[in-house]
Amino acid sequence: MNHSPVEGFSKLSKQRKIDWLIKEYLSEDRSYEQVLQQYWNGDHTLQKLHEEFSENTISNFYMPYGIAPNFLIDGKLLALPMAVEESSVVAAASKAAKFWIDKGGFKTTIINTKKLGHTHFILNVEPHKLQHFFNFKLKKRLFEATEEITKNMRNRGGGILNIRLIDKTADLENYFQLKASFDTVDSMGANFINSCLEQFGKTLTEEVQKEESFTQEEKDSLQIVMNILSNFTPDCIVRAEVSCKIEDLKDDSGISNEEFATKFKRAVTIAEIEPFRATTHNKGIMNGVDAVVIATGNDFRATEACAHAYAAKDGKYSSLTHCTTDNGIFRFWIDLPISVGVVGGLTNLHPLVKFSLALLGKPSAQELMSILAVSGLAQNFGALRSLVTTGIQKGHMKMHLFNILNQLGATEEEKNHFVTYFKDKTVTHHEVITEFNKLRNR
Ligand code: MEV
Repeated sequence: MNHSPVEGFSKLSKQRKIDWLIKEYLSEDRSYEQVLQQYWNGDHTLQKLHEEFSENTISNFYMPYGIAPNFLIDGKLLALPMAVEESSVVAAASKAAKFWIDKGGFKTTIINTKKLGHTHFILNVEPHKLQHFFNFKLKKRLFEATEEITKNMRNRGGGILNIRLIDKTADLENYFQLKASFDTVDSMGANFINSCLEQFGKTLTEEVQKEESFTQEEKDSLQIVMNILSNFTPDCIVRAEVSCKIEDLKDDSGISNEEFATKFKRAVTIAEIEPFRATTHNKGIMNGVDAVVIATGNDFRATEACAHAYAAKDGKYSSLTHCTTDNGIFRFWIDLPISVGVVGGLTNLHPLVKFSLALLGKPSAQELMSILAVSGLAQNFGALRSLVTTGIQKGHMKMHLFNILNQLGATEEEKNHFVTYFKDKTVTHHEVITEFNKLRNR
């Protein structure tokens, strides 16, 4: 079927949007309306709040919101809120938290909190001449011109930390950057950074026009390409780690402590040297990070982009976690670059985000960075622990079994029967159906 483009879709009411979709794409089947409506919140204020987060909203897309308790982080016992649809993630986090609770828990260190942004511009001026102009005139003017924008942030202890001129002409003809670093305290700071950068673009344009040492031709060559923060924040980084004596590293799968430590470390080494494995390894880490990022109203696309860029920072994609087993000590850690906020954005608006932050004891942005790194490390510990011992299918299969049984409308009693039945068998869809039919027809 050919569809025709729609004009002014955003201006249609929610109902008219749905009507149009059903007519245009869903063969006039009105039952789809019910699919959307069942997720509307009965509380109209809450529904309206959600609709206003984004554009053209016609329903809400629910995600399970789970809790992973028993996280001992820097001496504080926390229950982590996790918004994630993938089965086993919350269970793996909870299991890893419990494993480390009597071994001192997780320790974290904030290594730095600098965020970055750039004004990318083209200017056909000799780099030395431009550097001189930047050092003696422009830099000061950029700080002055953004004073109004940075006032509140400075009062909170943040602001623009530094501005540098970067010569990129070796990579692209006449390409330069104003590279600025920022401290955005408890906010993620995207709006603040972008506002400062847009002002840099304006000030740069004005100052270049006024500059006497530039010829008119040089002045006319200026093009501000874009002013935008970078989601790559290698200087906004937190380390989370766990360690214990290898003799205390008791795993319940039956292998010895030494063998477990050796196998575990080797799995990390493989992720460090093999990008195919590193990608899955880091995906597992991000299962833990993103679930808490989403639950706390932060931007998981930004944290994903940053983590993967950092994983490739040495020119080859590698593991975000590392492990040593020297002198009888097992040590496992992550260096996670991550930029998040606990004020601004969704944090003051979304009731569940407010709940998450309250549950975490209203953390500062730095404390949240620590919690996120721990969540990623715990998830990776859980995944590797399973992978080098029993394999991950064991845990997944139980969820798979329950999904099939739920689809079949199995009772609790029937579910218990199946857990026992599949204890020593592989769960297959066919086997579940066959046994289910047998059970019902007995
Ligand atoms: C699945 O979402 C994540 C894992 O594949 C991670 C890993 O292999 O380390 C289990």
